[in-house]
Amino acid sequence: MAKDGSKSGWKEFIWNPRTREFCGRTASSWGLILLFYLAFYIFLAGLFSVTIYVMLLTLDDNKPTYQDRLATPGMMIRPTGTDLEIIYKKEDTESWESHVQALNNFLSTYNDSVQEQTNVECTPDNYFFQEDSDSVKNIPKRSCQFKRSMLADCSGTPDRFYGYQEGTPCIIIKLNRVIGMLPGKDGLAPAVSCGPKGDDSDKIGEVAYFPPNGTFNLMYFPYYGKKAQVNYSQPLVAVKFLNITLNTDVNVECKISGMRIQANNERDKFAGRVSFKLRINSNK
Ligand SMILES: *[C@@H]1O[C@H](CO)[C@@H](O)[C@H](O)[C@H]1NC(C)=O
Ligand SMILES: *[C@@H]1O[C@H](CO)[C@@H](O)[C@H](O)[C@H]1NC(C)=O
Ligand SMILES: *[C@@H]1O[C@H](CO)[C@@H](O)[C@H](O)[C@H]1NC(C)=O
Ligand SMILES: *[C@@H]1O[C@H](CO)[C@@H](O)[C@H](O)[C@H]1NC(C)=O
Repeated sequence: MAKDGSKSGWKEFIWNPRTREFCGRTASSWGLILLFYLAFYIFLAGLFSVTIYVMLLTLDDNKPTYQDRLATPGMMIRPTGTDLEIIYKKEDTESWESHVQALNNFLSTYNDSVQEQTNVECTPDNYFFQEDSDSVKNIPKRSCQFKRSMLADCSGTPDRFYGYQEGTPCIIIKLNRVIGMLPGKDGLAPAVSCGPKGDDSDKIGEVAYFPPNGTFNLMYFPYYGKKAQVNYSQPLVAVKFLNITLNTDVNVECKISGMRIQANNERDKFAGRVSFKLRINSNK
């Protein structure tokens, strides 16, 4: 009897023919609930779309809205060697061939003819501003020529081995791109200077810089981003070690100076400097 009762109770809960209720609710009650949820979800979807749309409106295609602003950007060398260790033997062509090849590859986009085709000649020693006005976007933006011939003894012509064969190798330094950076200080361009790291002071010998004084000319700044400034070529500085001590490890540190640098920057101790090991072996 009790069994029967609960069974019919269940049946009646699911469908009660007397009150015409399904699961305890009439058809109109169910209808109202569905209607409510429908309206609720449409509202949520609408809110979501509006939020995304408004957010997209505030973004600029060509410029990051938020950028980790480093006071000084990172620096990199070419060739990179293995873990920033450039080790070779003067008399062993195979030991330095890959470095020469790396420099050839890296500099190929800096060929004078390539630069003349893609970039414009700029007025040196001034920033090359190409700002957008309110109504017109100044796009695409032009970029200044950096010709490899400016690297003179480190340009690959006429010395196509960049000094590696003679034990006076060239190392090329580039500054990482930072959108909008104006690196000059008191109207002066930033410059690279290399010196011994640690107690290797007498081993490094004389060093020559190309372009003269190791400067990154101001005309290559500011950089407007890959999308706005498609043909941008980062300026380079080449360092040639003229009288480095052979058959010994020489630890070198190159720094950028004349820039609004924060010495020993807490956030990034590699900003504005790069260290590497140079070892040139020789039978002599
Ligand atoms: C760059 O110029 C050198 C000779 O100056 C040539 O051998 C090389 O093929 C050129 N590279 C490009 C990419 O044009
Ligand atoms: C980029 O270089 C190409 C040639 O490679 C040239 O046609 C184009 O005008 C250049 N763009 C700008 C903005 O200078
Ligand atoms: C290099 O620096 C020296 C002294 O700081 C300066 O007299 C000379 O004009 C500079 N050369 C170039 C090409 O900037
Ligand atoms: C090269 O360096 C050595 C010491 O490592 C020094 O005795 C010599 O005078 C230097 N040569 C030149 C041309 O500076």
